[in-house]
Amino acid sequence: MATTTSAVGDAEVAALKTVALQGGFAEPVKVSCSVLGDRLDASSQTASRRLQRLEEAGLVEREVVSDGQWVSITGDGEHRLRAEYADYRRIFEGGSGVSLEGAVTSGMGEGRHYISLPGYVEQFVERLDYEPFHGTLNVDLTDESVRARAGLDSVDGVPIDGWEGEERTYGPATCYRASVETADGEVSDPCHVIVPERTHHDERQLEVIAPVKLRDELALADGDTVTVRIVEAGRAYDATGTGGQDGGETA
Ligand code: CDP
Repeated sequence: MATTTSAVGDAEVAALKTVALQGGFAEPVKVSCSVLGDRLDASSQTASRRLQRLEEAGLVEREVVSDGQWVSITGDGEHRLRAEYADYRRIFEGGSGVSLEGAVTSGMGEGRHYISLPGYVEQFVERLDYEPFHGTLNVDLTDESVRARAGLDSVDGVPIDGWEGEERTYGPATCYRASVETADGEVSDPCHVIVPERTHHDERQLEVIAPVKLRDELALADGDTVTVRIVEAGRAYDATGTGGQDGGETA
């Protein structure tokens, strides 16, 4: 039963993590609420309620049987845990964000048009500090990286606003500060991953912009493997690690 994106709290995420540690990613696992309760330092009723909330939020699927329940983690559940994972990476690896791997591909030549439009160019120059080469480098992500892409949710991007052209409107996008590294270890930096907000873009395709033509700079051809490392804007050098914001926790 899917309800509207009901939010789950830390207690539910801890339960989700416990199910994942039991192998719930790969296949359904048999969960006993009393054992889960012990692991979570809670009663079995509480453990049961947490699983129920996880199900209502679409993060797990459950099948209740006479002596327990089979629980499996959904794609959204994995997404939630990966966002958590990205937070821990940020804590322990000092601001380093998500690394995504894929193969360079050719698109349909649309990037060239969009990236050259003045309404976007002005914002790139002001907010990214460079005028991008007119185009986007398309990277076809590996299956693993399609899933890891969820980690972008916990990274602060640079917003690019939508704007009105003469005949149509152009949608907003988010840019994530990144570098691109080839299999030989050649690196181009700075770059940005650009994610358009409006289009139902293909999760497999990552689009990268840079001040240079990356195919020339890094001698890339279609099919070559690259690693796109997303760095959190403004936080990589923030010694306090707080990013200047409070954690949003109320007293
Ligand atoms: O044709 P396609 O949609 O792949 O590309 P485009 O966005 O029109 O960009 C033109 C060409 O420049 C393509 O071959 C891109 O892969 C490449 N490109 C690049 O090497 N470096 C960039 N920073 C942007 C695009």
